[in-house]
Amino acid sequence: MEIQITAIKFETVNGKKTGKSFSFKADPKKLEIFKTEATLKKKIKEYVAKSGIFKKEELDDVKYNMEDFLEEWKKLVATESYIQKKVEEIRRYVHAQWTLGALHGIGHWDRVYENGQKLLTPDVNPLVVGLFAYLHDSCRIDDGEDINHGQRAAVWIDTLRDTYLKDISDEEIELLQEACRLHTTTHKTGNPTIDACFDSDRLDLWRVGIIPDPARLATEKGKEIASNTDYKSLK
Ligand SMILES: [Fe+2]
Ligand SMILES: [Fe+2]
Repeated sequence: MEIQITAIKFETVNGKKTGKSFSFKADPKKLEIFKTEATLKKKIKEYVAKSGIFKKEELDDVKYNMEDFLEEWKKLVATESYIQKKVEEIRRYVHAQWTLGALHGIGHWDRVYENGQKLLTPDVNPLVVGLFAYLHDSCRIDDGEDINHGQRAAVWIDTLRDTYLKDISDEEIELLQEACRLHTTTHKTGNPTIDACFDSDRLDLWRVGIIPDPARLATEKGKEIASNTDYKSLK
């Protein structure tokens, strides 16, 4: 979605207020790469300077009408840092209580998180995929098959809803629980977020000597990664 930004330079000529302006459209999503308002404004000023509409000496007096643009840009940047903060909180909390070894421990969760980042598409909820990485194996009682650990994680998630998972929407909690509940038993659900969760975990199977089979992955991106990774070189 492109939003208009207007750069205006007012001046008073013979007692009359006049001005010249330059309007252009920009997409907040594309400028999301600039993480602070100061950097964003600097980039916009550079763009306006390049337009040649204003003389060099006028540039410091140019005012910017970009409130609508800033509002959208802030939402995008805030969402990203909110997700990182939430995921980091859960990561620390779950790790602090972990009693089993490394096989299903934090090294695995961090790799599942990294895999999840590669599986994000516009249809995938990034918060759910991030939280799944640190919660899906959190209720294991041993490093064996423990087929019910996903079920237990889904139940445990309910107990965190007043604390660590406060202000996460009901819909996101349901997706997270469903992904945890089914991750050991289900190949694919058709829900893009849940399937991305499944694949983020399965792409780490090489750690136990199983080369991820593209046919057993649930998403197109997951299949692509599994097909293009030289797992032998990772060992
Ligand atoms: Fe698991
Ligand atoms: Fe896992």
